Amino acid sequence: MKFLLLGKGGQVGWELQRSLAPLGELVALDFDSTDYAADFSRPEQLADTVLKIRPDVIVNAAAHTAVDKAESEVEFARKLNATSPGVVAQAAQQIGALMVHYSTDYVFDGSGSTPWREDDATGPLSVYGATKLEGEQLVAQHCARHLILRTSWVYAARGGNFAKTMLRLAKERERLTVIDDQFGAPTGAELLADVTAHAIRATLVDPAKAGLYHLVAGGETTWHGYARFVLEQAKAAGVELKAGPEAVDPVPTSAFPTPAKRPQNSRLNTQKLQDTFGLTLPHWQAGVARMLRETL
Ligand SMILES: NC(=O)c1ccc[n+]([C@@H]2O[C@H](COP(=O)([O-])OP(=O)(O)OC[C@H]3O[C@@H](n4cnc5c(N)ncnc54)[C@H](OP(=O)(O)O)[C@@H]3O)[C@@H](O)[C@H]2O)c1
Repeated sequence: MKFLLLGKGGQVGWELQRSLAPLGELVALDFDSTDYAADFSRPEQLADTVLKIRPDVIVNAAAHTAVDKAESEVEFARKLNATSPGVVAQAAQQIGALMVHYSTDYVFDGSGSTPWREDDATGPLSVYGATKLEGEQLVAQHCARHLILRTSWVYAARGGNFAKTMLRLAKERERLTVIDDQFGAPTGAELLADVTAHAIRATLVDPAKAGLYHLVAGGETTWHGYARFVLEQAKAAGVELKAGPEAVDPVPTSAFPTPAKRPQNSRLNTQKLQDTFGLTLPHWQAGVARMLRETL
């Protein structure tokens, strides 16, 4: 079994290098790889790469994830998030490969308070959301055997993340202000990569499992609840903080104006994924606590 991983150096890509490795031969590429062209800003080269490698499974973790920047570079974001995944999907179909692709809660308009289901109406509020929606539609349209996994609020132990930023600020300042009117579930790149490997194996055995799924950790919180949890964990671990969990003040989204509008309701219903693949998605606090124990 041969796997092609695109975007190997990102949060999810890095963990996929680990979780896909035991499944077969893995060719992992990034935009600057020299063996094969894998730069998503040059879609015209991607089909050739897929046709040369001829993998059984393609996992695409490459994306334009700079949500605010995307507002001012629409065409670039569209190439990375939509055109290139579409080209890869066409090539995947040509060689009969299964294609795995990631999408986002940002495809929804964030209204209401009910967790979104896979077949709910989309309504992206941002260029990032719109280009990711176009990308998932192109993948579904061009490659019959696909797994599209929508996730939210991704963090990883490697590199920067929200939790590390809160810790740094809590060491520098007496008080913090954090948004408390956006709801979602922080989801670890490790969990995404592990569930991806399970879902691939199950779909290779039973192709009827292909399709669109929501994949996030269990439970829900706000950025404010997330920040408080991080500082509680740090305090319990003996980290010296100027601002403890009680010094995190809740503020509305309007307190931090950004170029891209974010959905207020980013809750995703994961019942379909859990039922189809027989998996249990752990509570978001379990993953964040583990990541903190590794990085504190
Ligand atoms: N991050 C989130 O909160 C979040 C939420 C919901 C959904 N998602 C989705 O989850 C997936 C994985 O996201 P992530 O958090 O792992 O993102 P990430 O850390 O930003 O990784 C994106 C990857 O794409 C690569 N990339 C950038 N420009 C490229 C180009 N021109 N050609 C090829 N590759 C390029 C990046 O390379 P460099 O690192 O070298 O730039 C990186 O390896 C994406 O589909 C994203 O839309 C993410």
